[in-house]
Amino acid sequence: MIVAIDGPAGTGKSSTSKAVAAKLGLSYLDTGAQYRAITWWMLTNGVDVNDADAVAAAAGKPSIVSGTDPAEPTIFADGQDASGPIRTQEVSAAVSAVSAVPEVRTVITELQRTIAAGAERGIVVEGRDIGTTVLPDADLKVFLTASAEARAARRSGELKGKEATDLGATREALAKRDQADSSRKTSPLKKADDAVEVDTTELSLDQVIECVVTLIDKAATEK
Ligand code: DC
Repeated sequence: MIVAIDGPAGTGKSSTSKAVAAKLGLSYLDTGAQYRAITWWMLTNGVDVNDADAVAAAAGKPSIVSGTDPAEPTIFADGQDASGPIRTQEVSAAVSAVSAVPEVRTVITELQRTIAAGAERGIVVEGRDIGTTVLPDADLKVFLTASAEARAARRSGELKGKEATDLGATREALAKRDQADSSRKTSPLKKADDAVEVDTTELSLDQVIECVVTLIDKAATEK
């Protein structure tokens, strides 16, 4: 069972994907964390992230390793634990530019397909282009959406205590990143034609989880 969960930031992709994978005994892959990890590696290794040629030349250098246990997902860049640093505002601000570079997408997409192919019991893969590009033959494709207000409020809640943030600034940063992710040339954020769209604005996390589990059950019986 291969499940692709795509959508913009703040729609509950990570919380939903992790919970669904844990509930059904599937592996879990956070592809945003992979793009964040390669971005963090570039920032800490002197690569100018606004220079697409420099980013392209460095794309194959770091080894990015993801742990796929939904109870404890991990991410390492060149052997260094990147789980903390990838969530900083510095990385969030740079990740769209890095992930728009085709050479970066080629390296990371290859990695994602290898991980999905090796997941014996199946996997829930979350990102932006999983249903359209990475795993177009997924058994189920879900596209999560939510209003800009709901997404900013959720992301602001996640950041609380970690970094000073206000709702307006969070909403602006999310809108900027979504615009960049949706308008890039290579593999933009886009709903696959055969994805099921779920608007999570008025739903609790438990309701979204239940909805996706029901969709997976249905896809499994149709398989
Ligand atoms: O899911 P996230 O917010 O952690 O993702 C960080 C960035 O990575 C996002 O702004 C765009 C990029 N990304 C991508 O281009 N393709 C994916 N499949 C996942 C993330």
